Amino acid sequence: MCGIVSYTGHSQAAPILLDGLSKLEYRGYDSAGLAVRNGENKTRIVKAKGRLKALAEKTDNGHALAGTCGIGHTRWATHGEPSETNAHPHTSDNGNVVGVHNGIIENYQELKNKLLRKGYEFYSSTDTEVAVKLIDYYYKKYEHTPVDAINHAMVRIRGSYALAIMFQDYPGEIYVARKDSPMIIGVENGDCYVASDVPAILKYTRNVYYIGNLEMARLANGTVTFYNLDGDEIEKKPTQIKWDAEAAEKAGYEHFMLKEIHEQPKAVQDTLNSVLKDGAIDLSSVGLTEEELQSFSQVYIVACGSAYHVGVACQYVLEDLAQLPVRVDLASEFRYRSMPLDPNGLVIVISQSGETADSLAALRLAKKKGLKTLGIVNVVGSSIAREADNVFYTLAGPEIAVATTKAYSTQLIAGYCLAVQFALVRGCISKGRYQDLISQLQCLPEQIQKILDDKERIQWFAAKQANARDVFFIGRGLDYAISLEGSLKMKEISYIHSEAYAAGELKHGTISLIEDGTLVIGVLTQSELYEKTISNMVECKSRGAYLMGLTTYGNYNIEDTASFTVYVPKTEECFATSLAVIPLQLMGYYVSVAKGLDVDKPRNLAKSVTVE
Ligand code: AGP
Repeated sequence: MCGIVSYTGHSQAAPILLDGLSKLEYRGYDSAGLAVRNGENKTRIVKAKGRLKALAEKTDNGHALAGTCGIGHTRWATHGEPSETNAHPHTSDNGNVVGVHNGIIENYQELKNKLLRKGYEFYSSTDTEVAVKLIDYYYKKYEHTPVDAINHAMVRIRGSYALAIMFQDYPGEIYVARKDSPMIIGVENGDCYVASDVPAILKYTRNVYYIGNLEMARLANGTVTFYNLDGDEIEKKPTQIKWDAEAAEKAGYEHFMLKEIHEQPKAVQDTLNSVLKDGAIDLSSVGLTEEELQSFSQVYIVACGSAYHVGVACQYVLEDLAQLPVRVDLASEFRYRSMPLDPNGLVIVISQSGETADSLAALRLAKKKGLKTLGIVNVVGSSIAREADNVFYTLAGPEIAVATTKAYSTQLIAGYCLAVQFALVRGCISKGRYQDLISQLQCLPEQIQKILDDKERIQWFAAKQANARDVFFIGRGLDYAISLEGSLKMKEISYIHSEAYAAGELKHGTISLIEDGTLVIGVLTQSELYEKTISNMVECKSRGAYLMGLTTYGNYNIEDTASFTVYVPKTEECFATSLAVIPLQLMGYYVSVAKGLDVDKPRNLAKSVTVE
């Protein structure tokens, strides 16, 4: 996700835009830019790679850019490396149209090809430049009015967008359009403001309008006029923002972690959509060909922490669907083993930050040994993304909380898509099964949302665990992989000791730790292993454990064994991790909150471990 701001009014625009962008850096910070209009003069554009500070220095904190109308942007790269060229604002060939964008244009390649055929040229590799030039195309083709031009573009564009546009022929005016990406419009004393989020304009106004999906607006002379997709004017009433500034940065959530937990449906949707084309998985943006998928004889998955837990889950999914031998290793172990690697193997390195030292070192070792490498990475242009032969970008957006949630969930989606595509091209599944698996994947965002909508029960139960000393998560197969992540979430933000155990392994020693009242959470999403895990839970209960069950709707007989149960919707069992992990993320979060801890910045931890 990115951050956009716009301003037109009586004051100098650039300082206001920079101030607004500084409140949106949590939305993206790999590059930034401003476009400012000084009356009838041509619009001036200044962009800078890196944090917003670089742009502020380049524009003398905005004082070098005169003008009372402007747009600004801070970028989280999705299409195109972080660079000055790819930074927004983007402009049409003759500077007639200048714009900034937050969102993802899914059909940008198709639109780009159309514009190339119409004689347009492109200087960047962004989807936003395509959107701006499409608006310019329609502006020239139709009645030369901004509303018509943008409306025609909105009809053609598929994806999500919050657009802020200036037209050379309309000085002092800003036009905005929205679909799915957030946007808020403020009006105060003859000044108009636009932003991706409340914090950017809270200093200037609490009098705001919420623009709806597929709606447009014109901001000029202290007034806002709204339009629907037909170009008809529509009435809107302003509302008053009640938040304080700090709360606003978290969009009203108490912590970034809770906000990011709630961003998972969209993050999963965006990541899935990035490789779904006409109902099939298209890995062309990742760079793996069908021939390569058919040729690999072994997969190695290497990562750290939660990313490693994704690897453990994907091992089961790849083995199950694609009958592929898969080995998962902690990066810090992989790099020091004298393990013979199959030269015909694929090494997948999973990393949110793309900068984890052990994971980067493991990637370099794999490349040195001549194996094909693939990074599953969230930060565009990060070291692992740049050095891997191929990259599958997760579209989780910036993840601020140290404890990962939405990045973890989008990494799972990447792993599922790879497994399903491997299975199809290697003839392990039928086309019908392939389609069914894809439709199950497309249900995940809504199913995750349903779990989030029912979070109060988990919050109630978690608050009662604040004084727990030991918490055990047990499961078999994929349920063991889920237990690993649930346990890490619990210990890293609540500081309560926790273990994840393969349920069948408990009786080989660890069960000696079970005492009266020890919380044991049994994860039971795999039907073939359900009864076995229930037995292991009963073994714990007979030694005094307090049992919580985590299973799918319908398995109500678990209530004969567990004292507290959380249910998640049914899905294809190999995708169950994506649903079962949500209650466990919430458990860790609410226990930490109950203990009054710093959820977003737990002690001793860093968001990216760039040291060994
Ligand atoms: C998980 O909540 C932690 N933040 C940590 O385990 C993290 O997953 C690990 O450090 C790997 O980070 P990466 O994905 O950026 O490589």
